[in-house]
Amino acid sequence: MVSNLIVGNWKMNNDFVAAIHLTQQIGILARQADVAGVSLVVTPPTCDLRSVSSVIEADRLAIKLGAQHAYWEDGGAFTGETSIPMVKRLGCTFIIVGHSERREHFGMTDDAVAKTTASALRHDLTPIICVGESEEIRDNEGHVEFVSSQILAAVGGLTASQRRDVVVAYEPIWAIGTGKVASSEQVAEMMAVIRSAWPEDGGDITVLYGGSVKPENATELASTPGVDGFLVGGASLSGEQFVEIAAAAAKCYR
Ligand code: 13P
Repeated sequence: MVSNLIVGNWKMNNDFVAAIHLTQQIGILARQADVAGVSLVVTPPTCDLRSVSSVIEADRLAIKLGAQHAYWEDGGAFTGETSIPMVKRLGCTFIIVGHSERREHFGMTDDAVAKTTASALRHDLTPIICVGESEEIRDNEGHVEFVSSQILAAVGGLTASQRRDVVVAYEPIWAIGTGKVASSEQVAEMMAVIRSAWPEDGGDITVLYGGSVKPENATELASTPGVDGFLVGGASLSGEQFVEIAAAAAKCYR
């Protein structure tokens, strides 16, 4: 069981030098801020993982490490890919699975999401499974059905005990990088939808919200029923903003 998480998805930003600086900055700011009760996770590009994990270890920073993506096979002839055991060896304990950008730009299917999730669990990494509808689907009122089917496709083949180790992130595509944040009502509805799509009682699963989370909206979003934390994109590239978001959320969860 994982609880309140603030995850920074750096996407394809920051080379290893910039990644080291940002990690140190987050670590220092987090020591000064009151973030008790939430776990901070950063997910840098794969080529930065070694540098970031070395800094976390050397400076004893209270930051956990995650990968943005990895392939579900453990090894073999898969040119250009990185496996889950490989990112685990670099210190990752989390992995984002099926971000909408992977689904849209790299053709990641529901089946690939399910296989990656299963591989992550096999290697004791916590998968953060991303779900969320496009603007068009929402306009046609298909969002409940769409997100429910993404959930079932991702976790339906797991055992009930495996499902307890999964984190879900609801990220409506229309809110990602647009500044158009989902309303509290919309978020609360989808948190409930995700939990009721769960094959067992989904009451205690960890569900994050992502999509234009900023320091200005963090308190309202963290106080929205069912939200256990955030998956932050743009604002996670600023140490100050990321830690401010974490502190605002921590206050709501205390
Ligand atoms: P933004 O916070 O930039 O909208 O990105 C959200 C996201 O995609 C995190 O995974």
